[in-house]
Amino acid sequence: MRKKILAILKSSNDYVSGQELARQLNVSRTAVWKNIKTLQSEGCLIEAVNNKGYRLVSCPEVLDESGIRSHLTTKYIGNKIFCYDETDSTNTRAKHEGESGGENGSLFAANLQTAGKGRRGRSWVSQKGEIAAVSFLLRPEIEIECVSRITLVAAVAVARVLAKLEGLKPRIKWPNDVVVNGKKICGILTEMSSEGMDINYVVVGIGINDYNETFPDNIAYKATSIKLENGKGYDRAMLIADLANEFEQLFDEFVNRKDLSFLLEEYNSLLVNKDEKVYVISDDKKTEYTAIGLSPNGGLLVKNELGEIENIISGEVSVRGIYGYV
Ligand code: ATP
Ligand code: BTN
Repeated sequence: MRKKILAILKSSNDYVSGQELARQLNVSRTAVWKNIKTLQSEGCLIEAVNNKGYRLVSCPEVLDESGIRSHLTTKYIGNKIFCYDETDSTNTRAKHEGESGGENGSLFAANLQTAGKGRRGRSWVSQKGEIAAVSFLLRPEIEIECVSRITLVAAVAVARVLAKLEGLKPRIKWPNDVVVNGKKICGILTEMSSEGMDINYVVVGIGINDYNETFPDNIAYKATSIKLENGKGYDRAMLIADLANEFEQLFDEFVNRKDLSFLLEEYNSLLVNKDEKVYVISDDKKTEYTAIGLSPNGGLLVKNELGEIENIISGEVSVRGIYGYV
């Protein structure tokens, strides 16, 4: 019951009366009062005012399996949860399980990643408790060339979840970043193991900056967090569960349909540099285009200076705005 009380108080910006809590939870007001006392003894700051009720000021946040599980509404993602206080990288853990027969839909989360990974061997940095770091182990029956599209599906799931939070207007920077106010709030890393043309497993790793208040100098200009955007942050167990719920629905639809046509309109409405000039940067060149939108195969459609349309395939390219990160 304590978790339910906390969830109600968290979702309200105002006082909630003992009577209202008792009504919503279908228990007595005495039971509510006892549980509030326990929460306070556990370190939650809950203000109690006569004739008004209770207001949550702050609460030490825990990220554990039961917290994540209590908000899951999925069919298979999160049936098995591995939640670490500290680990190297949730993607590395998921791959390890993937190699040893781990279940489709296993979910890996961590309070701290000591070797968080980004694309192309880059690192993903965070301190303990700051980010929602989660990876899903998947064994989809799709063609190998469709795997990179899973990143785009995950980006839409992240954008949907963040859009529900107060004060956040998420956008997608193709292919794997979710940005808010022109700064990166989330990165997605999809990794795969295959034999010939057969997929052994896919790992989708998602890192959402949540309570970060500062970033290392080299990324401070292009990184942000939920807390920096709305002054609050969001319970990481809830964030991970919301994400799993949203992702599973979109992912299943993608696996059934095999292409991204069903998501094109939504993706394009979220695309941060749609109809704007961008640089497409590969190892040896930097070319200016106008971004047009997503193609059903997951590429980025761009127009070159001659007005010709090209389909940029993800992988070894980066897209940048001509004046900065987006
Ligand atoms: P692109 O994906 O277009 O190549 P990118 O710079 O975002 O651009 P990624 O490989 O997607 O590169 O992401 C990894 C990069 O993200 C790192 O090199 C670092 O610059 C940055 N980064 C690392 N940790 C964080 C974080 N917590 N929040 C935001 N950005 C981060
Ligand atoms: C990127 O932007 O390049 C991708 C960053 C992906 C970070 C997440 S955090 C959870 C999962 N574990 C990792 O080591 N990486 C991903």
